[in-house]
Amino acid sequence: MNLKAIFDNNKAWIKSKLSQDDKYFDKLAAGQNPSILYIGCSDSRVTAEELMGMGPGEVFVHRNVANMVPNADLNVMSVIEYAVEHLKVDHVIVCGHYECGGVKAAMQSADLGVLNPWLRNIRDVYRTHQVELEAIADEAKRYRRLVELNVQEQVINVHKTEVVQRNSAARDLTIHGWVFDLASGGIVDLNLNSKVLFADIRSLYHIE
Ligand code: CO
Repeated sequence: MNLKAIFDNNKAWIKSKLSQDDKYFDKLAAGQNPSILYIGCSDSRVTAEELMGMGPGEVFVHRNVANMVPNADLNVMSVIEYAVEHLKVDHVIVCGHYECGGVKAAMQSADLGVLNPWLRNIRDVYRTHQVELEAIADEAKRYRRLVELNVQEQVINVHKTEVVQRNSAARDLTIHGWVFDLASGGIVDLNLNSKVLFADIRSLYHIE
């Protein structure tokens, strides 16, 4: 791919933004006040802002392989801390997607080097929900269900953090689990009532 096209696209984008609002970049440079933290997969087909119809300044974004929230990952934990404590976002969204290569790899045994410990977090999700998953005979359906359960477990991981516990007790902060369906382009809200989901295990993870 010729990267010159990107710079041409960039010039066209600047022109189109300025034609709608000649102060567009002055406003953008003045600061950000997003109300949403989006944690999604790095997959090139799952574009965070575009699939939500959002623009610059509206969403704080973190993406990694298979939209994970590992408890000891300094990167995602820093993003959550900054978004919740400093930007005071109202919503944290964990968005997985069907056909996720990371989830698929975790269902197989190939040695993927440094990805092994990362994918082990998804294998732990599988183990936690092994009875439900192995009752699903159809492999494609089991794979889709693991994508959903992985989102659910990452939502729980968001709740395990001190910053989210403190902020959700003090103000309106909600955590959502979504799956993007590549085949239709639709966002599926898993309708996880994450506070209820977390209630049963709250005593184990509560920090004060
Ligand atoms: Co993915």
